[in-house]
Amino acid sequence: MCGIIGCVGRGDGTLETLVHGLSKLEYRGYDSAGVALTAAGRGVDICKCAGEIEDLRETLADRTLSGEVGVGHTRWSTHGPPTDENAHPHMDCTDDVAVVHNGIIENYQSIRDELTRAGHTFTSDTDTEVVPHLIEDALDDGADAEDAVRTAIARLEGSYAIAAVVAGQEAIFAARNDSPLVLGVGDDALYLASDVPAFRDHTDRVVYLDDGEFARLDGGWTVTQADGTVVEKTVDTVDWDPEETGKSGYDHYMLKEIHEQPRALRQCLRGRVDELGGTVDVGDLGDLSPTGVQFVACGTSYHAALYAAQLFQAAGVPAQAFLASEYASGVPPIGDALVVGITQSGETADTLSALREAHRRGARTMAVTNTVGSTAARECDHAFYIRAGPEIGVAATKTFASQLAASNLLALATAGGDARGIVPALRDLPGDVQALLDDSAAPAVAETYEDAAAYFFIGRGLNYPVALEGALKMKEITYKHAEGFAAGELKHGPLALVTENTPVFAVVTGDGEMARKTIGNVKEVEARNAPVVAVTDGASDVERYADHVLTLPETHPRAASVLANVQLQLVSYHVAARLGRSIDKPRNLAKSVTVE
Ligand code: M6R
Repeated sequence: MCGIIGCVGRGDGTLETLVHGLSKLEYRGYDSAGVALTAAGRGVDICKCAGEIEDLRETLADRTLSGEVGVGHTRWSTHGPPTDENAHPHMDCTDDVAVVHNGIIENYQSIRDELTRAGHTFTSDTDTEVVPHLIEDALDDGADAEDAVRTAIARLEGSYAIAAVVAGQEAIFAARNDSPLVLGVGDDALYLASDVPAFRDHTDRVVYLDDGEFARLDGGWTVTQADGTVVEKTVDTVDWDPEETGKSGYDHYMLKEIHEQPRALRQCLRGRVDELGGTVDVGDLGDLSPTGVQFVACGTSYHAALYAAQLFQAAGVPAQAFLASEYASGVPPIGDALVVGITQSGETADTLSALREAHRRGARTMAVTNTVGSTAARECDHAFYIRAGPEIGVAATKTFASQLAASNLLALATAGGDARGIVPALRDLPGDVQALLDDSAAPAVAETYEDAAAYFFIGRGLNYPVALEGALKMKEITYKHAEGFAAGELKHGPLALVTENTPVFAVVTGDGEMARKTIGNVKEVEARNAPVVAVTDGASDVERYADHVLTLPETHPRAASVLANVQLQLVSYHVAARLGRSIDKPRNLAKSVTVE
């Protein structure tokens, strides 16, 4: 949530570099945006406004803003509504200091009261605004620019990634605590951002900052601890192309990312499954024979955790999935359990907090993540990468598919079980997803039900998390009421909601006991005149009771759930597109939620 960009060394191209970088970060927040520039011997110029990056571009068209050092920000509101005044950068009383910030400053109110008493004037509702005023005070006390920023940072409690520029200084000062920041090291210029896509067009060399570190970017770059001790940082190279963050002709990132699933799955599985031997190789993840596994995750990743826990249980390993935000309260002592955080971004505050709690209790921790160098990857004892490639759309799609595939690999490596059954299905999964994408009835289903009053999703076993995820996707991007239920629960209350205007999507795969019982639930809704959309591999006779069928290629039940989810992604996408929703940037949401 919130995106920060900074650059030094791009000369006249500084402003465009900042705005272009912000457009790449817009998935992190998009309710207001702004930039600040300065240069040697010059003051600080800022431009900011409520709205998206396009609105900022329009506002900039009427302004003359130049400078060779700059910072920018795209906001997802936490303190105060999205207005011009609350947009970042924020300035001090003299307009000599501009600050952008991601996170929450917990002690801002007491600092603000103190500064107000001392005569400072505030112009926004934000927690951030205390920072430039603290810097101003330190400058007044005679500190140089870097020391003034350090002095201000030392006062802050909470989570922050902060970047500041000071009038006339050809430098950016930055600090990180609990919010991501990464430096980009170009041949002639330096960059700073919340995430690599912001500057990936300019360089693939990156330096990830850790909590408590302070960076100075000018002609060169240095990273120090709060006390000034120099930290030797490694320069890493990212292994994906800038094109991977473009839309490649699709109307939306979400649609592009749905269509990237075959490739994402291939990448996830590459080199990790040995078809002949029916074995998997997940690399060195330490002792993979825990007495139990606890999964912690949020949103879509929590649905992946529910799926993963079932795989481990099936292999005889006690496993449970927890909502990360609920983990700290009421979870039994851990003992020898492995605690696995499933998180696409690796930066979700609730998940990081749960993993840290597990660590405090002595558990071994593992991050299952898409983001190399993310906080979760670095803080956990082990990291397992799902390799889905960058996901820009706020709605998680390809990363969910890859999380499910990765869960299969981990379950096989950790808990054992019948690898030969699932390994061929995993091998075929990318091709099966492609076949489904090439010939899906989802657009027609979306057209039929775009005006529905609500959408319900039901499934059992591995298809229960798929039902939950189908509903989350629907509500997230269409803004319409949608709920997912364990199919057996419908008759215990939710059935009262079912009418002829509420299509029920029933995920029914295989022809076993669970399929038969779910078909029983389908008959219950059919008897209440609700339209039924069966998502099925055709193994059972659920089609007889359905008004529409979304067909899945025949495969192993574990892979069938992945395929069923792709059909539901397409339905949600096409309903949202027909309703003209802001699909890639749904209202009120952000891709990476770095506050608890
Ligand atoms: O980055 P994470 O996987 O930790 O994110 C967790 C949730 O915020 C995320 O899955 C969210 O629910 C999705 N954007 C929904 O599509």
